Amino acid sequence: MEVIVASNYDKMSEIGATIMAASLQTRARPVLGLATGSTPIGTYQALRRMYKKGLVDFSQTRTFNLDEYVGLSPEDPQSYYAFMYDQFFTHINISPSNIHLPPGQMEEDDQACLAYENMIDQAGGIDLQLLGLGGNGHIAFNEPADHFTAKTHLVTLDERTIADNARFFDDPSQVPRQAITMGIGSIMKARHILMLVSGQNKQEALYQMIKGPIRPQLPASILQVHPRVTVVTDQEAASQLFSADG
Ligand code: GLP
Repeated sequence: MEVIVASNYDKMSEIGATIMAASLQTRARPVLGLATGSTPIGTYQALRRMYKKGLVDFSQTRTFNLDEYVGLSPEDPQSYYAFMYDQFFTHINISPSNIHLPPGQMEEDDQACLAYENMIDQAGGIDLQLLGLGGNGHIAFNEPADHFTAKTHLVTLDERTIADNARFFDDPSQVPRQAITMGIGSIMKARHILMLVSGQNKQEALYQMIKGPIRPQLPASILQVHPRVTVVTDQEAASQLFSADG
């Protein structure tokens, strides 16, 4: 696992965007796995700037998002679908037919989850998977549990996740309690994983992810066994990692 410590959030975002732009050059029809949350917003903005300058082209890019809330329509401003269009898709030259998000309106529908997995496989797998890190060590919406779940599935959100994500809603009671998420196996199949980590509230999770044992109670720790992971973190999030007793 390669760990790059950037001096601040903006630098982290620039590095993240550069790595993503480089990945677009590796295949004629590249496949990106994309993430939501506040952490990747600066990276999406940096990619938008690169696009405006003619430095990147998304016309052949296909995307698969990690997760989506259950019960929110794509038109709902709190849906991850709306987030991705607002932050990224409407600002670049990607074709809507190349954009995929998990089926959040499907409730418990194993067939729809399986179809999502199959679509990723049929696209040739994910070249670069962008990830954030939950304060509780989750990746996508794979919450701490007593086992890893391999494939795209329905999940009940952790209390900490609901509390962490309440800041995006007018009222904490509006935060959906369930989501559809890519599984740990879906993520681990990506050829390259780029994780962005920012802020003091991620210190402990980042430390455990890299230095702790591999365990489903800290889902991100599984990344220790992936052959190609790049973590780009700001100094705030990395401080425990490089402290005297870290
Ligand atoms: C959210 C998303 C994750 C994201 C994480 C961190 O709940 N499901 O994909 O990486 O939590 O979010 P943030 O970047 O806002 O801290």
